[in-house]
Amino acid sequence: MASVTALPPGPRESPLRQLVRYVPHPAEFLEECGRAFGPRFTMRLAGFGTFVQLAQPAAVQELFRGDPTQLHSGEANAFLAVTVGRRSVLVLDEAAHADQRRVLVPPLHGSRMQARVEPMRRATEAALRDWPLGRAVPLEPLMRDLTLRTMLDVVLGIGEAEAREVAAQRLGRDLAKLLSYARTPFAIVFANLAPHELLRRVPFLPYYRELRRIHAALDQRIERRRAAMRSPDRAVEPTDRAAPPGDLLSELLRATRADGRPIDDGEIRDALMTILVAGHDTTAVALAWLFLQIGERDGVQQRLRAELRAVTGGEPIAADHLPRLTYLDAVVRESLRLCTVVPFVTRRLTVPLRVDGHDYPAGVHLCPCIHLVHRDPELYPEPERFRPERFLERKFGPHEWLPFGGGERLCTGMAFALTEMKVVAATLLAALELERPRDAATKRVRSGVLIAPSDGVVVVAQRSPIAGAATSAASTP
Ligand code: HEM
Repeated sequence: MASVTALPPGPRESPLRQLVRYVPHPAEFLEECGRAFGPRFTMRLAGFGTFVQLAQPAAVQELFRGDPTQLHSGEANAFLAVTVGRRSVLVLDEAAHADQRRVLVPPLHGSRMQARVEPMRRATEAALRDWPLGRAVPLEPLMRDLTLRTMLDVVLGIGEAEAREVAAQRLGRDLAKLLSYARTPFAIVFANLAPHELLRRVPFLPYYRELRRIHAALDQRIERRRAAMRSPDRAVEPTDRAAPPGDLLSELLRATRADGRPIDDGEIRDALMTILVAGHDTTAVALAWLFLQIGERDGVQQRLRAELRAVTGGEPIAADHLPRLTYLDAVVRESLRLCTVVPFVTRRLTVPLRVDGHDYPAGVHLCPCIHLVHRDPELYPEPERFRPERFLERKFGPHEWLPFGGGERLCTGMAFALTEMKVVAATLLAALELERPRDAATKRVRSGVLIAPSDGVVVVAQRSPIAGAATSAASTP
């Protein structure tokens, strides 16, 4: 008789009940399970499968170093294919995944971030111009607007002037709307179970309608840019003529595979959709959490401003300042540790596998549990305390600090997100002082696949008395 591998213990409720508990409050659900069953437990979510959560750094390290033919992530992300396309790096595995990563990694690599700082700062300054001062407003929508502006500039070369044009505004609105559907309560369940091939043919159905319009806009941009690269003098738009230095679209158009074959336009569209979708809400939510931590702590705000003054001398933030902003780096890392954005990542076993001394059957999802590793008191003493100094005192390995996942699937936008968070924080802190209203209360809630602040992080912003160039941007209501 074949032996059945026992999975670690976990909640006894039905998979439907577990889904209903997980969906509104993922952080609490994971913490309760961790307390009840330890750092290795099994949860079952109706419609999604069986997830073994692993919160020991040693097990996480083994998984991140594992063989990608045995550990599939793309399969687990299949529900994203309707949005990002079937050839997106997010939904592929093995050789096809490695092939797409070779295309996507170079333009997003850390060494390329120098050229991205300037458009990131421009987008932040543009957003600061419309910033409502002196009244309590939620930060998250403002951050979403800001990260969208940055994405459109860096990815498609849509700078401030073009962003005011009708076509660019429509594209921005459609992208924002598309992502807003993902934040509705049962969006993941819908994405996983709906007959998309059928529904996408229904005209004017929300979501598919925006998706169609975004695809058309991206296709047109790709086509024009490709034509302009062949014959520069026939360019229709200024951005078609010569790619700005930070423009990812031109880099993708020039990219080739390992065997020298170019990337076709359909793949480029999927790559653009992937970056726009994967990089927009994630960074906006991470920034909202960051400003929650900063806004609640005068001491942290003051120390950040002192470091900024010493390093930038009051000048707008530039690429060469970033390596010297060590306290800002620690604040960003500590915020990403304490305020989980993505609670866990998944690796579906294609074969039975032994991990960290335990046997697991094929078909199960093994999940490095980012949320619980980041709360391990052995790694992070007093884990609930916001203490950026811990990142100045020691270095954490990729299996100990993992807000961006790891191994072969490490977030390709990690350098981009870290750079953007620092540029936004530096620019905003130079212009504004943030205060949390006394009665403000923020809980952790699920938003799409992310954990987001329930109130969007309400703050009151005032012009900073020591503000520099960016200050003139912010307006009074
Ligand atoms: C603070 C912001 C962000 C967070 C917390 C975040 C987190 C993550 C996580 C946890 C994964 C899964 C990794 C794994 O399975 O091990 C991931 C994958 C990915 N992220 Fe991010 N991300 C962020 C920003 C971005 C940005 C700005 C971009 C693009 C510019 C981006 C593009 C991607 C892509 C393309 C993947 C798929 C990688 C693959 O499957 O090979 N992300 N991200």
